[in-house]
Amino acid sequence: MISKPRGTRDFLPDEMRKRRTLERMFRDIAERYGYGEVKTPVFEHLELFTIKSGEGIIGEIYNFKDKGGRDLALRPELTAPVTRMVIEECHSIPRPIRFYYFDNCFRYERPQKGRYREFWQFGVELIGSDSPLADVEVISLAHTMLDKTGIEFDLNIGHVGILRDILSGVEGKNHIMRLIDKKDRAGVEDYLRKTGKDEVLEKVTSLMDMSGSAEILDEARRFTGDSDKIDHLKTVAEHLHNLEIEFTIDLGIARGLDYYTGVVFEAYAEGLGAQNQICGGGSYRLAHLFGGRDIPSTGFALGFDRIAELFEYSPEKKLMIAIISVPGFEKHALKLASKLRERFCVITDVMERSVKNQFSHASSAGCDYAVVVGRKEIETGELTIKNLNTGEQYLMTPERFIDSLIQSASE
Ligand code: HAM
Repeated sequence: MISKPRGTRDFLPDEMRKRRTLERMFRDIAERYGYGEVKTPVFEHLELFTIKSGEGIIGEIYNFKDKGGRDLALRPELTAPVTRMVIEECHSIPRPIRFYYFDNCFRYERPQKGRYREFWQFGVELIGSDSPLADVEVISLAHTMLDKTGIEFDLNIGHVGILRDILSGVEGKNHIMRLIDKKDRAGVEDYLRKTGKDEVLEKVTSLMDMSGSAEILDEARRFTGDSDKIDHLKTVAEHLHNLEIEFTIDLGIARGLDYYTGVVFEAYAEGLGAQNQICGGGSYRLAHLFGGRDIPSTGFALGFDRIAELFEYSPEKKLMIAIISVPGFEKHALKLASKLRERFCVITDVMERSVKNQFSHASSAGCDYAVVVGRKEIETGELTIKNLNTGEQYLMTPERFIDSLIQSASE
């Protein structure tokens, strides 16, 4: 037997129904905020992802050479592809540009619960503004989407620029940011002590401890002096308070990708184990790296698979009819099925089973009605109908049967 590659999954109809419901919900909200859907290629030039994604991502890229010897990669995320597309295709679209996407991504990670090698992201990018209002818009959009799922989650907001200012001049800044991001306090202490940066260590640990406290931004201002970045984050926070969005300010959020420049945010859910991050995003500047003019942008991606895992969903049951064809009357059965399919879900026999076996299949397939088509039905114009939920059996013309179904659906 050939099985699926490690870290990938198959999805059966029940799971797909749930995923499509969630997807429709997110699409609907994104459209209400004025975002339009985009699609980029599943693979891109490897370089697109190595320029500014950060060590974490680079080690996880699925890359390969094609037959022409080009270095290509399956996309690990969509922010870099969307930025590339904007530079290549969107010269005449007025700014800001509001795009959303729902697509699969690939990362060569060690698979575990909630962490896959193929996974889906639902994301948005708001391109062309560095105003705090742009951050407020995408954070409130992420919040609205998560809220609508009914999942319990915490939202944390930080600013990578503030953290970078505090660490300015310190060797191994990116490494320390990664340790702070992982909340690895012992690792941070160890590293900064070794490099003799006790003063920086004090500031960093103090801000790590103050995560969630109302005074954290005043404390940060003491460390960095007056700063536009702190004012920016304060403005974002005020707007979010005004929108009654609950969040925690956490200046330790560094994010796994290196392209962020400003406000960053993450959402975490309970009940997922170690992989509890269900949303990540923030503001970034990538365009100049791909040969375009610098464009301030902001966005986020929801971890669709993790959210689907927590999403409680009871499928709406669709009425299903089985047409039971008496051998020799298949032609009539297929005609009736076509007519009924204008309004209802209908299955017909394709196994050339006996009438008895067609009935038992209709029951085990969860059909609500079995409708017999044979000589008697053709001669009298009345169908034999069995309600498989109640066991009742009766005769009815096709028209009356359709009317009765429409009527019971509207009750
Ligand atoms: P990210 O935090 O790397 O950000 O990914 C976003 C979300 O994708 C994560 O919060 C997580 O829920 C989900 N995710 C990541 N890796 C996996 C995996 N191996 N299996 C399942 N789910 C996973 C980005 O990708 C940025 N492009 C987000 C962004 C958009 N920033 C600005 N705009």
